[in-house]
Amino acid sequence: MENQEKKTVLSFIQPTGTPTLGNYLGAFKNWKKMSGDYDCLFAVADLHSITVRPKPEDLRRRSLELYALLLALGLDCEKNTIFIQSMVPEHGQLAWILECYTQFGEASRMTQFKDKSEKHSDNVNVGLFAYPVLMAADILLYQTDYVPIGADQKQHLEITRDIAERFNGIYGNSFKIPEPFIGEVGANIKSLQEPAKKMSKSDANAKAFISILDDDNVIMKKIKSAITDSEAKVRYAEGKDGVNNLMSIYSCCTGKNMQEIEREFDGRGYGDFKNAVGEAVVEELRPLKQEYTRLINDKAYLMECAVAGAEKASRRAGVTLKKVMKKIGFVQAK
Ligand code: TYM
Repeated sequence: MENQEKKTVLSFIQPTGTPTLGNYLGAFKNWKKMSGDYDCLFAVADLHSITVRPKPEDLRRRSLELYALLLALGLDCEKNTIFIQSMVPEHGQLAWILECYTQFGEASRMTQFKDKSEKHSDNVNVGLFAYPVLMAADILLYQTDYVPIGADQKQHLEITRDIAERFNGIYGNSFKIPEPFIGEVGANIKSLQEPAKKMSKSDANAKAFISILDDDNVIMKKIKSAITDSEAKVRYAEGKDGVNNLMSIYSCCTGKNMQEIEREFDGRGYGDFKNAVGEAVVEELRPLKQEYTRLINDKAYLMECAVAGAEKASRRAGVTLKKVMKKIGFVQAK
């Protein structure tokens, strides 16, 4: 199939630290699955990550490391469009326009804004508030059909749809209305230490999350010290958040469903179960880690792909941006 006939898939990730197993199972794994059948755009969302003011050298290094990780996943930079957001100026341009079509009230209702403004109370900047509108611009610029994300991003997709519908209502059809793609298992991987919370790379307790580049023995240790419960029975049920989480991780890595997992560990304790989960995670991540180690040492190749990806993305984004600017009434050269 030619790209024009394929549905468009888009998703980004922030370079705020090494991605976790949550990012991998909630997002990356689906990106990889979709990359063969769809016209995919994947990017490092570096513009989003300056709401917390990283050091310049950290931002640059992490952005390139994350870019290398995207390639290491096996995403093909020729067939797909893989880029770094700030290298495509249209994102910032459309974001400003869409901010003027977003109500203060609806942006205030974003739970991630509320959480993050509590967590970073010393730096509640306007960028943090406008963040979902930049995300809407990312998605709408490319007339995206599907957005593979974890459950925590669902609300941002809803506001994207609302903004697009509002704009289309005023100016006529301008943006395609995107659909979220949220996997059944893995969309909400929890902290290993506080399984009511999502697994997050910014957690102060390093035992709470697995980084996808963690050494094998570190992964095994973290899984072994994961919080479970006193029932000592592997079953998926309400009130067993820790075990449910490990079962979800195991299910994503092995393709087995919950009943199969319950049967496999029937009569066996959590020790055996945790061992199996740890080994499954280690095996799942092994090829990615090997490929990443190779790519991160080839900066020239990474930059070549990043520049080509940004040029491809910018050409496409420019078509939507131009159309939008014309509809609004901006003076254009031709
Ligand atoms: P970010 O960088 O926080 O996370 C990247 C992706 O990983 C998913 N994810 C999880 N999935 C399951 N369990 C978890 N514990 C977990 N933690 C994170 C996220 O849902 C996400 O899909 N705003 C976005 C980045 C972004 C974006 C976009 C995404 C910017 N522009 C356009 C889609 C489309 C974010 O901060 O994701």
